[in-house]
Amino acid sequence: MNKTLKKLAPVIILLAFAASVTVQAAQGADRSGKEVVDKVCSTCHATGANGAPKIGDQAAWRKRSERGLADLTANAIKGIRKMPAHGGNQNVSDLEIERAITFMVNQSGGHWAEPINRTKPVAERPGKKIVEMQCIKCHKAGVGGAPKIGDRDAWIKRGSAGMDSLVRSSINGHGGMPARGGMADLTDSEIRGAVVYMFNQGITEKK
Ligand code: HEC
Ligand code: HEC
Repeated sequence: MNKTLKKLAPVIILLAFAASVTVQAAQGADRSGKEVVDKVCSTCHATGANGAPKIGDQAAWRKRSERGLADLTANAIKGIRKMPAHGGNQNVSDLEIERAITFMVNQSGGHWAEPINRTKPVAERPGKKIVEMQCIKCHKAGVGGAPKIGDRDAWIKRGSAGMDSLVRSSINGHGGMPARGGMADLTDSEIRGAVVYMFNQGITEKK
């Protein structure tokens, strides 16, 4: 029995790895706003539990939607009062949150366009380009304590909570780091590309 297990160990590890890749792939395939709302958000937003703006309640959604998608998304991602972060489900991607909000707004009298869709690909700017265009303004010299590009220790320390955490804080901003690196039109996935690029420069440069 023990021997069989030992023989199987590499297989099990491989399977676990494959499973994690599959989960990532599933996360990569962003669902529509309706799907996410039906699965996750409707638990509270269908009934208005705990003061959640109810789907279809035009007055409740108009007031909130006037603040714009970016602001609502930021609150939905980090949570606000009885609204749990990511609707209580970390597997909901940032883009899915944006789509879910758009869907709920539109079910409640709004006319928002669903955020960028992979069936209608938009030319995404690569991470390297975004970094050279914007992020180097601070991350080259370390302005305001920004982790410097190529500073291995700084990036490893920052990365210890995981890539998603770095991406999230880049989207929301924190300390001297402005939301979206000060470039409001960057998509979440472009920001991810830029973060990954800087992170990789950091950990591969001085080896
Ligand atoms: C466990 C219940 C619950 C779930 C699940 C939930 N919400 Fe909420 N949501 C709330 C409550 C309660 C509020 C009102 C918070 C407040 O303003 O006090 C709220 C408010 C919001 C707001 C308004 C935020 C603002 O800044 O005014 C948005 C946007 C939102 N939810 C999006 C979502 C999305 C998208 C999902 C699904 C991915 C989701 N919610 C799932 C309970 C929930
Ligand atoms: C105006 C200066 C400035 C610009 C422009 C800027 N950053 Fe930053 N960034 C900072 C500072 C300062 C910090 C350190 C903030 C802190 O930890 O308090 C930081 C921290 C970060 C972190 C680490 C976050 C964490 O959780 O520790 C990431 C990732 C990041 N920036 C990504 C980016 C990306 C991507 C861009 C370009 C799209 C960008 N930054 C543009 C100033 C800037």
